[in-house]
Amino acid sequence: MFVLPPPPRYPAGGPYHPGGLTGIVPMIETNNTISNPTGPEWQFLVGEGTYVLKEDLHLATPPPHPSEAPIVNPNPLATNPQPATAGTKLSLVSLDQRPPPFVYKGPAESTLSLGGSGVAMNEHQNEFRYSTEGGMSSEDGRGTSTSDAPTASITLGSAPAFGEGNALLMPTPTKDANKKRKPKNNVTKSNSSFISRVIVNESLSRRLTDRPSDGIFAFANINRAFQWIDLSSSNKQDYLTKILFTKAHCLCHDVNKTTRSSSHIDVIMGFSTGEVIWWEPISQRYTRLNKNGAINNTPVSEIRWIPGSENLFLAAHMDGSLVVYDKEKEDAPFNPEEEASSVNGSEAGDTPNGLTHGNRIIIQKSVCSKNQKTNPVAAWKLSNQRINAFAFSPDHRHLAVVCEDGTLRIIDYLREELLDLFNSYYGGLTCACWTPDGKYILTGGQDDLISIWSLADSGLVARCQGHQSWVSALAFDPWRCDDRNYRFGSVGEDGRLCLWDFGVGMLHRPKNASWQRGSISMPAGGPQRVDSTSPVGARMRSNSGLDGDDDGDGISHPVEPRARIPMLPPVLTTVIDTHPACWLDFTEDAIITSCKNGHVRTWNRPGKGAAAQAATA
Ligand SMILES: *[C@@H]1O[C@H](CO)[C@@H](O)[C@H](O)[C@H]1NC(C)=O
Ligand SMILES: *[C@@H]1O[C@H](CO)[C@@H](O)[C@H](O)[C@H]1NC(C)=O
Ligand SMILES: *[C@@H]1O[C@H](CO)[C@@H](O)[C@H](O)[C@H]1NC(C)=O
Ligand SMILES: *[C@@H]1O[C@H](CO)[C@@H](O)[C@H](O)[C@H]1NC(C)=O
Ligand SMILES: *[C@@H]1O[C@H](CO)[C@@H](O)[C@H](O)[C@H]1NC(C)=O
Ligand SMILES: *[C@@H]1O[C@H](CO)[C@@H](O)[C@H](O)[C@H]1NC(C)=O
Ligand SMILES: *[C@@H]1O[C@H](CO)[C@@H](O)[C@H](O)[C@H]1NC(C)=O
Repeated sequence: MFVLPPPPRYPAGGPYHPGGLTGIVPMIETNNTISNPTGPEWQFLVGEGTYVLKEDLHLATPPPHPSEAPIVNPNPLATNPQPATAGTKLSLVSLDQRPPPFVYKGPAESTLSLGGSGVAMNEHQNEFRYSTEGGMSSEDGRGTSTSDAPTASITLGSAPAFGEGNALLMPTPTKDANKKRKPKNNVTKSNSSFISRVIVNESLSRRLTDRPSDGIFAFANINRAFQWIDLSSSNKQDYLTKILFTKAHCLCHDVNKTTRSSSHIDVIMGFSTGEVIWWEPISQRYTRLNKNGAINNTPVSEIRWIPGSENLFLAAHMDGSLVVYDKEKEDAPFNPEEEASSVNGSEAGDTPNGLTHGNRIIIQKSVCSKNQKTNPVAAWKLSNQRINAFAFSPDHRHLAVVCEDGTLRIIDYLREELLDLFNSYYGGLTCACWTPDGKYILTGGQDDLISIWSLADSGLVARCQGHQSWVSALAFDPWRCDDRNYRFGSVGEDGRLCLWDFGVGMLHRPKNASWQRGSISMPAGGPQRVDSTSPVGARMRSNSGLDGDDDGDGISHPVEPRARIPMLPPVLTTVIDTHPACWLDFTEDAIITSCKNGHVRTWNRPGKGAAAQAATA
């Protein structure tokens, strides 16, 4: 996923040619373009019908900043540092507050429910408190008709918020509860050397007023550029805002889907320098965190807002650390805290803070720490190799983390505790996502496979073969999932899109496989292995007596032999790009994919859009 690319090649003699000019070179503004290729190679047939390419939006890759030292090394095998790249990754955001088509209903009810008609309403689930009557108020993000209780209240069946036990982490109340706090600095006025240039469309406010309320915004990182685009606009190639950074490449970003409104959107970005930017695009304000890598100076490979928290987000750094930051706190040089960082080897035995040996999470700073004046809020070291991706479970209790060392870790992040450690068939794991009901975790890897892991069975249940190179991204299609069947898509370095269907009935594990030694029978109510009523911070393991795997700690699971695990075929595998594909997502009308080179392709679902009608006519 984070392949270090060969040095970029620019036309010989051109302004960016390394051997060329030395002094100041003119900055050429690269522009996005849109095209509508048609023909049989731009469509594909699946069981439900034909998907047809609607358009190809090419996001311009910015040339390197003149101050970025050109990397000249004639040796193609040289391993000197090069800028990390993550290709083009997008977040799709709609200000429309309709519920998603399938909604997680909580651990007590293990089924998915059909949304949109009101049945998704669950008064016990404040994570998904949508109102079918009035919708959410765009001002304060509260349901207008559900209850008067503040959204932060904890109700039955929902996970506690991260850090809830620590009074020092309680957000300071704002004077006007309806007003979201903005970052400190005006991005257009910034004289920071970190930001090279900010181009705001001159008709931004008119375009924001005129757009349809259910239109989709896209935020995209492309090397040192970050773009905000309106996909519902007929001029979508004209970005609403483009920020160019000086040297740092933006590798990942996330948008808080709960705080979004027509007056406020919280975006966080992670950079190759380790730095993080919190940006609010409507007011064009930003705050820079982990400045100059004060806390961690390794690239950020994945960044996500922590569910249930307005201020906290989690960043995966390439030194194998997970770091929790608060968007409002200042940086301070970080040294692992003495009392916290006590796990240093697999023979360490029980430690004062309750960690059992072999946990393999070194808590460098606990969320329970009394020192919460500055960032980081918490820091955990997982591996000496880079973390490639992580994903929060739909019930907001677990975190799935995949690493370059070929491991998948299931972490109870509320308790800062490792629950399971799985290994890939071979090679690093590159991406991860949960089924919408939280029962299974999917990972993609450098073994060209997608693996399906069961949380309840603590084991691998299926492998999916269809890519011819590394798998780079996974996403579920909530419009084609129901309570027994799942549809997901994957893209890979081979430029392929694969679609997959699997059902609960297909995932029966062979009765006598060796995994049973280490498996744990789960209560029907769900996968919690820890007493969910005990307070956060009392790191009790209720299963510490259950041994049986290779390390005898109930956590680490051996690799499953290939022959013992069912192999699922894709329902579709098709080449969608000549460049490595790096991201995909599903909307009600389309599948959207992107590639390293910046092509964002929208594939209309069967029967959606004029092109589809013409093709089937
Ligand atoms: C990009 O667009 C701007 C403004 O529309 C224009 O001035 C510039 O020449 C374009 N650049 C290229 C490379 O086409
Ligand atoms: C940026 O501007 C502020 C005041 O507006 C000034 O104090 C600061 O020195 C400037 N920084 C640089 C790098 O020019
Ligand atoms: C701003 O958007 C308008 C409308 O889409 C477009 O005509 C114009 O060229 C854009 N300006 C820039 C600088 O991209
Ligand atoms: C940011 O600075 C620009 C340029 O000076 C100004 O037009 C804009 O109003 C400022 N925005 C805010 C929110 O202060
Ligand atoms: C965004 O912020 C809200 C609080 O305003 C929080 O409840 C929510 O879980 C946050 N994160 C995400 C991913 O939505
Ligand atoms: C673990 O750390 C302690 C000090 O914190 C040290 O004395 C001990 O030698 C370390 N053990 C290993 C196995 O590294
Ligand atoms: C269990 O699997 C082994 C091979 O792994 C096989 O020899 C044996 O017959 C199987 N037992 C049953 C009951 O299926």
